[in-house]
Amino acid sequence: MNAYGAAITGVGFCAPPGVLTNEDLEKLVDTSDEWITQRTGMKRRHIIWPEGTTSDLAVPAAKSALQAAGLAAKDIDCIICATATPDYPFPALACIVAAQLGVQGTPAFDISIACSGFVYALTTAASLIRSGVFRSVLIIGAETLSKITDYTDRATCVLFGDGAGAAIVERADEDCFLGADLGADGSDPSVLYLPGGGSKFPYNKNGELADKRLGYIKMQGQSVFKFAVNQMAASTRNALARAGLTTADIDFVVPHQANLRIVDATIKMLGVPQAKCIVNIAEYGNTSAASIPIALGEAVESGLIKKGNVVVLVAFGGGLSWGSVVWRWSGAPVVRAHLQRPAAAAGAGAH
Ligand SMILES: CC(C)(COP(=O)(O)OP(=O)(O)OC[C@H]1O[C@@H](n2cnc3c(N)ncnc32)[C@H](O)[C@@H]1OP(=O)(O)O)[C@@H](O)C(=O)NCCC(=O)NCCS
Repeated sequence: MNAYGAAITGVGFCAPPGVLTNEDLEKLVDTSDEWITQRTGMKRRHIIWPEGTTSDLAVPAAKSALQAAGLAAKDIDCIICATATPDYPFPALACIVAAQLGVQGTPAFDISIACSGFVYALTTAASLIRSGVFRSVLIIGAETLSKITDYTDRATCVLFGDGAGAAIVERADEDCFLGADLGADGSDPSVLYLPGGGSKFPYNKNGELADKRLGYIKMQGQSVFKFAVNQMAASTRNALARAGLTTADIDFVVPHQANLRIVDATIKMLGVPQAKCIVNIAEYGNTSAASIPIALGEAVESGLIKKGNVVVLVAFGGGLSWGSVVWRWSGAPVVRAHLQRPAAAAGAGAH
């Protein structure tokens, strides 16, 4: 029995101004706009300036979410960042963000579950609020995947982009958290992983990291594809069942934006009409933990998602991992941050 309700009261998001188009990628690797468009649905991705860090995106997204909710950073009881690309392996990105927001002492931690991160963060935040531990939690999904993307590998470099999205989750009379399903299967990390920089291939040991390009995302694309379609559909059904709902009750699905064909196949399996599915993959590519809050932010901003709607947020990613949340939209405002490249970084290339 939960003591309190939880609601999202503000959303913020941003993407860096630099853009990498399919035509740009044609100049880097043996690929074509036609192949990328047909196989992924992607046209552009936003790429951070060379000196940029994930906190450069996470902080503006967080400030925008606070502005949307009408709160100051000091009003927040806990900060959770979902990211696979923190500024440092440690301390947590959330600690860096807290300091840049001007708060000291606020509990702050990261969730490391790759592209499923925002769904895990929302479930965690809602649970902390519903149980009475906190009254307000700032959750952020932020990534600079361009930093770990191998721009000599055509199988992966066309997919990834940078961005950040944030939400304020607060104690509320009406509980908007209707149900969730989270899961993971770590039996074969190599299906989708960043090999270098951990204890298996530490940065400090010989030249192996650079020689084998272990500091870049490695992926078995077709295995990930099959896993994604089956698991996103199954997870959505599980979360709906826990909410006491069916697919007919869904007003909108906000899926992780990994590949248009994955999204289309998933909603087809669920029997959900395409008009109920939020897709912005052409503009951003796959921004991992940032993809769902950016897509949610744009859908609220455009007036598509409205107060009272039943929204399913569903993701999959490295782990392998998956998760979905069924959430009643309480009509929270959204603020988009328009980022400028810092003056000191101007003049450098897009990536
Ligand atoms: C990566 C992905 C787009 C590849 O699409 P696909 O239809 O499975 O393509 P395949 O891997 O079967 O490759 C088909 C051919 O295209 C080639 N190819 C791969 N990338 C290419 C590119 N960017 N441009 C042109 N050709 C490419 C392959 O080399 C292969 O050539 P071959 O038939 O001569 O061997 C797709 O598998 C996918 O999206 N998987 C999920 C990845 C993902 O979401 N990862 C992140 C999860 S959070």
